[in-house]
Amino acid sequence: MTATPVYDLDPCDPGFVRDSYPFYAAMRDLGRIFEWRQLGHRCCGRYDDVNAILRDRRFGRQILHVTTREELGWPEPAAHLGPFHAFEEHSLLELEPPRHTRLRSFVNASFLPRQVDRFATPIERLAQDLIDGVAASGRCDLVADYAAPLAVGVIADFLGVPQGLSPQLLAWSHDMVAIYQARRDRGIEDRTVAATMEFSALVREFVAARRRDPAEDFLSQLVTAADGAGRGLTDDEVVTMGILLLNAGHEATVHALGNGVRAILERVPDPAAAVAANAAGHVEEMLRFDAPLHMFTRYALEDVEVAGERFRKGDVVGLLLGSANRDPAKFADPDRFDAMRSPNPHVSFGMGIHACVGAPLARLEMQVALRVLFERLPGLAIVEPPRVKDAWHFHGLEALHVAW
Ligand code: HEM
Repeated sequence: MTATPVYDLDPCDPGFVRDSYPFYAAMRDLGRIFEWRQLGHRCCGRYDDVNAILRDRRFGRQILHVTTREELGWPEPAAHLGPFHAFEEHSLLELEPPRHTRLRSFVNASFLPRQVDRFATPIERLAQDLIDGVAASGRCDLVADYAAPLAVGVIADFLGVPQGLSPQLLAWSHDMVAIYQARRDRGIEDRTVAATMEFSALVREFVAARRRDPAEDFLSQLVTAADGAGRGLTDDEVVTMGILLLNAGHEATVHALGNGVRAILERVPDPAAAVAANAAGHVEEMLRFDAPLHMFTRYALEDVEVAGERFRKGDVVGLLLGSANRDPAKFADPDRFDAMRSPNPHVSFGMGIHACVGAPLARLEMQVALRVLFERLPGLAIVEPPRVKDAWHFHGLEALHVAW
C-alpha cells in the first residue's frame, strides 16, 4: 500500500466555504482516499467510492453498538450535553441495525407516494400565500421570505403541529443543528441543550394528545403503529422522531431551494420557461449542482480495506457528497447546470440504509415551490451578490435578494 496523500485546508477558509468545488477537484485528483489534515480523518471525494462506502455495511454512522468508549479511548460524554445525547439515543439517524431497521420500518409507510402526494395541495397553498405576501413589494429575500417559512410550514403540516408554531420550531431547530457545525463552543452547546429540552417538552405534549385522540397526521401514525409482534414505539422514540423530522426536514430543504434558485437565475437563459417545461429535471439538477449537505462521516465497524486503504475498527471516513456530485468520471461536464441530465444519480439524499427517508416529500416540495415561484414572478432576478453561510458542510445562503 502506498502512503495516503494529505490535503491541507482549513474547512473555515472563506474561499473554500464560498465555492468548494475547485478544492474538491484538487482533492479528487489526490487519490481515492486522502487524509484531510485539519479534519483529522481520511475522506473520499470520488463518486464511485462515496456511493460504495455509503452502501457498505462494514461502515456505520454509529460505532458504540460494536465497541466501547474505553476500547476507542474516548472520554465519557460531557455531562452538560446529557439531554442532547438522550435525544440522539433514539434517533434513526444515529442508530444502526437492528434498532435502525425497526425504527425505519415505522416511518417508511408515511413516506410512500400516496401518503406524500396528499401534501401537494397544502404545499401549493402555502407557496401561493407566501408569494401573495411579497408580490407587491417587488423584492424579497428568497431564503427568509419564501424557502424557510415554506419548508418549516410543510413539515409542521406533515407532523400535525399548528402552523402558528413555525417560528418557534425554526428557532429551536437552528439551535439544535448548530451543534453539528465545524465551529462549536460551549455557548452553542448550551443553546443546543436548552432547545432540545424545550422542543422535546412541546412534542411530548403533542404525542400525549395524539395517543388520546389520533388524527391523520404523521405523529398519529407513529403513536398508533405497531410492529409484527404488536409492539409500538415508546414516547421517547416518537418525540425524537418528531424532532428529527423537523430538523432534518427543513434546514436541508431551505438550502437546497436557495442554492438551486441561485444556480438557475445565474445559469439558465429563460428560467421561467425552462422551469415550466421541466420542474422535476430542474429540482434534480439543483440537488446535484449545489447540494445543501456536503459531508457525512462513517465509522469502520470492523477492520476493513476499501479503495486501497486499510481502516481499523473505529476509524472515521468523510464522504464528500458535494464532491461526488461534481465528479467528471460520473457526470459529463459536471460544472454545467443541465436540467436535462438523465439519469441524474446524484448522492445528495445519501445512499444505503440511512438514505433520506424524507426525499419524496422534499422533491415534491421543491417542485411545487419552484413552479409557483416562476409562474408568479417570471421576471425574477438576483439584485445583490448572494452570501454563503459560514458553515461549510451545511451549505446554504445567508440570503438571496431578488427582485421582479
Ligand atoms: C433537499 C432536502 C433534503 C436533503 C438534501 C436531505 C439529505 C439527507 C441525507 C444526505 C441523509 C443521509 C445522511 C447519512 O447518510 O448519513 C438524510 C437522512 C434523513 N433525512 Fe433527509 N434530506 C432532505 C430533506 C428531508 C426531509 C424533508 C425530511 C423529513 C420530512 C428528511 C428526513 C430525513 C431523515 C429522518 C433521515 C435519516 C434517515 C435514516 O437514518 O434512516 N430529510 N437526508
